Amino acid sequence: MAIYNLGSINADYFYRVPHLPSAGETLAATSVLRGLGGKGTNMSVAAARAAARTIHIGAVGEDGRWATDRLLEYGVDTRHITTLPDTPTGHAIINVEDSGENAIVLLPGANHEIPESTIGAALSEASPGDTLLLQNETNNQAQAAEIAKRLDLFTAYAAAPFDAEAVQAVLPYIDILFFNAVEAAQFEQATDQSPTDLPVRQVIVTRGSQGCTLFDNQLEEVRHFPALPVTPVDTTGAGDTFTGYVLAALDRGLPMPQAITLATRAAALMVTRHGTADVIPDLKHVQEAQF
Ligand code: RIB
Repeated sequence: MAIYNLGSINADYFYRVPHLPSAGETLAATSVLRGLGGKGTNMSVAAARAAARTIHIGAVGEDGRWATDRLLEYGVDTRHITTLPDTPTGHAIINVEDSGENAIVLLPGANHEIPESTIGAALSEASPGDTLLLQNETNNQAQAAEIAKRLDLFTAYAAAPFDAEAVQAVLPYIDILFFNAVEAAQFEQATDQSPTDLPVRQVIVTRGSQGCTLFDNQLEEVRHFPALPVTPVDTTGAGDTFTGYVLAALDRGLPMPQAITLATRAAALMVTRHGTADVIPDLKHVQEAQF
């Protein structure tokens, strides 16, 4: 089985700041680092590190070869990443404060110009039962989800960055939906629908240090999973790591509770590290870590 991920590719610029700046404030950063990121990329790397065959579908500009090369080094199939002329690779400016909290500004660049032909070529290689993963940092999400439904793929959507309309556009086609608690509340406010009202098999709501809740709408069950006790230094990419690990575990045939337990361990390790795709823990470390 395999995971096809229509996902963003960003250069992440991390600025370490004493606190997140407020409107009108000028603040000196204590350090800056560039790494590989993008919600899509982070999820692809997490899925590959969790031992799933992972195919990334996306686009970079001519300045993005380093990003594609690095994804390949991390075990991700990059054949369906298109290089677009005259378009910059996406990038993110990420302020991280001492508590580990962050604030992100994105330039989507090539992530918003992924050609339909690139998506079609990738999905024509997929088989029924493979997974299609989507997030809200690319164009053509609903089109890809519709193709996936026709091909009988298992489709997952991570609703970040949050946009209620983008969620509604993919809802008819998806099997599993990932929200964080803020996104779930925003969605309920915008549509009057709670996770149990949605026409998807399963909804997972992540709650940071409070763990996560699985709404299994097929079994009509709600189950809470606690988080692990760690001291965070940087929460960026932890949700992406969780999503990639859950889907990789499901792809390998693990039942959902075990998939969530494994992903919770991966996310707990991730918040103790600075950075995004480059520092996502591999399966061996996740399985062996002591908390
Ligand atoms: O979720 C973290 C990611 O959000 C970063 O890697 C950044 O690129 C933004 O897309």
